[in-house]
Amino acid sequence: MGERVEIFEVGPRDGLQNEKRLIPVTEKIALVDALSRAGFQRIEVTSFVSPKWVPQMADAAEVMAGITRAPGVRYAALAPNLKGFEAAVTAGVDEVAIFGAASEGFSRANINVGIAESLERFRPVMEAARAVGMPVRGYVSCVTDCPHDGPVVPGAVARVAGALYAMGCYEVSLGDTIGAGRPETIAAMLRAVADVVPVDRLAGHYHDTKGRALGNIDASLEAGLRVFDTAVGGLGGCPYAPGAAGNVATEAVARHLAARGFETGLDLAAVEAAAAMARGMRDGDA
Ligand code: HMG
Ligand code: MG
Repeated sequence: MGERVEIFEVGPRDGLQNEKRLIPVTEKIALVDALSRAGFQRIEVTSFVSPKWVPQMADAAEVMAGITRAPGVRYAALAPNLKGFEAAVTAGVDEVAIFGAASEGFSRANINVGIAESLERFRPVMEAARAVGMPVRGYVSCVTDCPHDGPVVPGAVARVAGALYAMGCYEVSLGDTIGAGRPETIAAMLRAVADVVPVDRLAGHYHDTKGRALGNIDASLEAGLRVFDTAVGGLGGCPYAPGAAGNVATEAVARHLAARGFETGLDLAAVEAAAAMARGMRDGDA
């Protein structure tokens, strides 16, 4: 058996949030249920965010209510503030994620506040989560490049990642939001972040805009990362990152890792079935 690498499926959230067509709840539920059969341990289902900011995620509670939970799967959702956190708890999510950025421009465009204020706003969410024993994951966006501010220095990523870890996030996911990272810039960023967050508490979250995500995953494996966020069918993008293409496709990463001798625990046929469904949703003909 090869060494274990976990693929964290984020397609229903990061994938679908950017689709222009308002996808019916039933289609979203069907996708999550298909993913539940594929062997993931964690699936990011939706976001409890302002529907004015991301209309596609306005049905978060309905999606959560409709899915068939598979044993052993943790169903996750984004929650940027207490309002989102409380709605997530009511909807029965197993873990939430707060999401910050390493660049001021993206932080303001995505969550309407600068970095320092965003960290302050996450604190009440952390406290509320701690009170009910809910695990919280932290995201850092724009870990090498920002669509608004340009290149991002590794120290800026380390500061935000370290702050999220220090406030209690059990894992910090490092987002190459616009897929502009290269193996060298990803490696340099990871060296800085690994000084402040243990490497086994880090995840790589790479968009594939320029077709470099697999190379960036290889650089991250080299640095010791063993968790990667992906989206079936390469769905996705971010509504506040112009030009961001989809997340790296789950099926491509699963095949790549298998070819490299890593064990993902995924049923590749079930992943392919979910990917076909996801691609149909993107084309608007599912
Ligand atoms: P704001 O406008 O500053 O917030 O937005 P506000 O507190 O002033 O509230 C404005 C309105 O939104 C109010 O409604 C609130 O009730 C409502 P009104 O009184 O006008 O009718 N509201 C909410 N409604 C439902 N759920 C909530 C919620 N919060 C407020 N949780 C805010 C600040 C953070 C809310 C907003 O900017 C927002 O929702 N942003 C989310 C953006 C987003 O989801 N982006 C995509 C996810 S991040 C991403 O994709 C990157 C990632 O994949 C990693 C990577 O690739 O880099 C994670
Ligand atoms: Mg993303």
